Amino acid sequence: MSPALFRTKNDKSKMSRKFYITTPIYYVNAHPHIGHAYTTIACDTIARRQRLLGAETFFLTGTDEHGQKIERAAQAAGKTPQEYADEISAEFRQLWKRMGISNDDFIRTTEDRHKKRVQELFRHIRDNGYIYKGTYTGQYCVSDELYVDGAQPGDPCPTCGRITETVHEENYFFKLTAFQQKLLELYANPDFIRPETRRNEVISFVRSGLRDLSISRSTFTWGIPVPDDPGHVIYVWLDALANYITAIGYGSSHAAAQETFRKFWPADVQMIGKEIVRFHCVYWPAFLMAAGLAVPKAIVAHGWLLFEESKMSKSRGNIVRTETILDVLGADALRYFLLREVVFGQDGSFSFDALVQRHNADLANGLGNLASRTLTMINRYFKGEVPYPSHAASRTAADDAIAHTARKAIREFTALFDQFQFSRALETAWALVAAVDKYIVENEPWALGEKQDEESRSRLATVLYTAAEALRVVTALAHPVIPDATAKIWAQMGLGDIKKLALNDLTWGQLPLSTKLGDVQPVFPRADKSAIERMQKMEDERRSAPMTEATAAGADTTMPTPASSLPASTRPAPEQKISIDDFAKVELRVGVVKVAERVPKSDKLLRLEVDIGVEVRQVVAGIAEAYAPETLVGRKVVIVANLAPRKLRGLESNGMIVAASLEDGKPVLAGFLEDVPVGARLK
Ligand code: MSP
Repeated sequence: MSPALFRTKNDKSKMSRKFYITTPIYYVNAHPHIGHAYTTIACDTIARRQRLLGAETFFLTGTDEHGQKIERAAQAAGKTPQEYADEISAEFRQLWKRMGISNDDFIRTTEDRHKKRVQELFRHIRDNGYIYKGTYTGQYCVSDELYVDGAQPGDPCPTCGRITETVHEENYFFKLTAFQQKLLELYANPDFIRPETRRNEVISFVRSGLRDLSISRSTFTWGIPVPDDPGHVIYVWLDALANYITAIGYGSSHAAAQETFRKFWPADVQMIGKEIVRFHCVYWPAFLMAAGLAVPKAIVAHGWLLFEESKMSKSRGNIVRTETILDVLGADALRYFLLREVVFGQDGSFSFDALVQRHNADLANGLGNLASRTLTMINRYFKGEVPYPSHAASRTAADDAIAHTARKAIREFTALFDQFQFSRALETAWALVAAVDKYIVENEPWALGEKQDEESRSRLATVLYTAAEALRVVTALAHPVIPDATAKIWAQMGLGDIKKLALNDLTWGQLPLSTKLGDVQPVFPRADKSAIERMQKMEDERRSAPMTEATAAGADTTMPTPASSLPASTRPAPEQKISIDDFAKVELRVGVVKVAERVPKSDKLLRLEVDIGVEVRQVVAGIAEAYAPETLVGRKVVIVANLAPRKLRGLESNGMIVAASLEDGKPVLAGFLEDVPVGARLK
């Protein structure tokens, strides 16, 4: 890590140092889930720490709203792309607000400021001679908005596996080939792409040879028009990547915006998920070089959050909503879990069990318990004022060991955190919590408190001072990660507003003596098994809900939802047609219900065994509020037989029962007037 990136020690320049950090901008074809929250939380934590270190910090996030994928998702939802983007973009903004994310701006690619500035960037690159017109014939993956070199018609996308579409268009091309050498020189800087594995992948990709990149499309209109040639829209990835500079004033004619751009660009950290490394590490620096602009200092790629062993994503249907966790445990629990549990850079699994376990072990029983027992004893034995520790000569080795562990925690936390090793950084800080817990147990302040002799009083004062000072150190270090709880602990310690903390100066022994404690309250109530069940239930019921506007709108663009199963309000506009081949991908079959029973502890779910002629399938359906299980046995239903299996409440569901979804959300099962054989295909 170059010391210039994170000057944390003896940073005399303080406010003169700037820090600019960005998240990817999220597509608006999916509702926010904890995969998105993961990146946003990691960036928020870094931004908060940088502010405490005295850097003038700019933290940017936003939404990516153009392109064919969004246009199609909007059509499927029966909305204009703008209406559709407005709704989902607002969901992201509201969620970040509810979580207390400290972003300084939120950019939407459909905003005027962005559109004008992207056109300016396009002109700039064109004027520099790096754009030409040509003809593109090849395969395109709409889901990834990616040109797939070397693919033949009908081939799947190597990234997501969906079938690519053939594109034959006159396009504008970007001379990516002109930058091959310059990019390789850029990668010689080991800080530019992290971690190392991603850097190696990018180097070998670029070494294997680049091709010029098509950067406009003319077969749809949902995008930013190419300057002077409005029949073309700018390729969505050029449009999207540019957000990192348009948001801070690039291309603006206003002096203040230009000044902001000069101050903050280049970005210090651009954080992304590992699936978009190529766009950020190859195309993005090449676009910038072509425009004569500086490249970012570091592109940092993290791994994926997995749920039930695969990447959490809308198209797999295995997402976990952030709101569920906020409702039950709060934002700090999620923040701590994601940064502590996932080794940054690698994939990590999410489960409600692990979340609650971490919450209880590290937050409720760990930091929370340390705070409440220490502060409660200061209240009880010293009338709520931080006591004076005894002078050095009468201190024990155990007291000094805590001071030593705290100093080590400050040092190691700083080094690890600045290398993005959040999990190990938190581990060091929590080693201090464990050491103090042990120290308290061994020194028995409650027993000392019962005695009135001077020696016991003085020992008690030292033990409680030491515990409180260690608590202050952990609270300061952990503040960027768990801002709400630590702000409360800080106030309970009588230290005022934690935002005023100068993290550069954090050392052992600064807790002011005689500080008057504030009102002491528990900060992390312990969660029990019912917390897991509540979260599980909330998620299962959302997933098993019969098709509603939200699920239809989020439908996979390469496997359109059959129009017949959409409620009237979401029927595709008449001009949007799917081919018979698209429809044929959905395997609808007649089945007969053999077994139906309630799923324990769920109001909405039924477990069905459905015979579809060739086999009996277990299906978990969200129809319990509309159908008593016994009325279903022997009934013929329509089942989507080729849906990927998913787990609901621990039960594998192998298919989906087709139902009409009425205004009140009540499902009505599809059926037949004539008798139909089991297993018959609907086509
Ligand atoms: N719109 C593009 C990015 C353009 S940036 C100029 C895009 N959007 S996305 O909505 O698909 O979000 C991608 C980002 O969301 C990932 O790079 C990652 O930061 C985050 N994640 C989405 N799902 C995730 C997981 N399951 N796990 C971890 N991060 C995830 O790509």
